[in-house]
Amino acid sequence: MSKRFYTTDSNQHGLPHDPFKAIVAPRPIGWIGTKGRAGIRNLAPYSFFNAISDSPKMVMFSSSGHKDSVRNIEETGVFTANLVSRNLIDQMNLSSALVAYDVDEFSLTGLTPVDGELVDAPYVGEAYAALECRMTDVYRPKTVDGGLADSWVVFGQVMGIHLSDEILKDGNIDMSLARPVARMGYMDYCEGSDAFQLARPKVPAA
Ligand SMILES: Cc1cc2nc3c(=O)[nH]c(=O)nc-3n(C[C@H](O)[C@H](O)[C@H](O)COP(=O)(O)O)c2cc1C
Repeated sequence: MSKRFYTTDSNQHGLPHDPFKAIVAPRPIGWIGTKGRAGIRNLAPYSFFNAISDSPKMVMFSSSGHKDSVRNIEETGVFTANLVSRNLIDQMNLSSALVAYDVDEFSLTGLTPVDGELVDAPYVGEAYAALECRMTDVYRPKTVDGGLADSWVVFGQVMGIHLSDEILKDGNIDMSLARPVARMGYMDYCEGSDAFQLARPKVPAA
């Protein structure tokens, strides 16, 4: 098998486009809902996003540069993380537009902002699931040369969960109903409805 190796300091991968995000793929999309101190709503997709703990339930996302979502979370300490399904992909994409701070992406996209039950942040009424989160940490990761990345990583504890009954079948979330969308590299997306089952191996008791 022919393979290439390159170092990331020069990032000379020899390809037309940087493949990094296509290598670490697919990535779930956290559609982050916030409000600033002045009450202006904000909604933006982040694919540097994941669940990082289930006891307690926690998620994180990372902003390349100090974006409006981070500013709002620093101001209010709360956010929602909404999950994107195939039918909402155009609204998700539109909400990523580089617009002024005072533009409400809920209005821009026509999505329904619903006030959180526990946190003062809006969630997407049309999303099949939304996580209400309290921020636990925001920081810039350290780099190996002692500097700081131009990224702000936000961690949040999930305080409440909205889940649509429409995606449940026999009590489980059915991916063919949820149709979650994930980001890959370049302009590629995939739909996580192609689920298959695999049981973890059972280690015989010694
Ligand atoms: C699918 C998708 C995933 C994205 N993921 C990220 C991400 O992980 N980090 C980031 O900084 N920007 C990401 N962006 C770009 C932001 O959504 C965009 O910069 C947006 O305007 C930020 O909004 P805000 O300033 O209101 O927070 C992504 C865009 C799309 C369409």
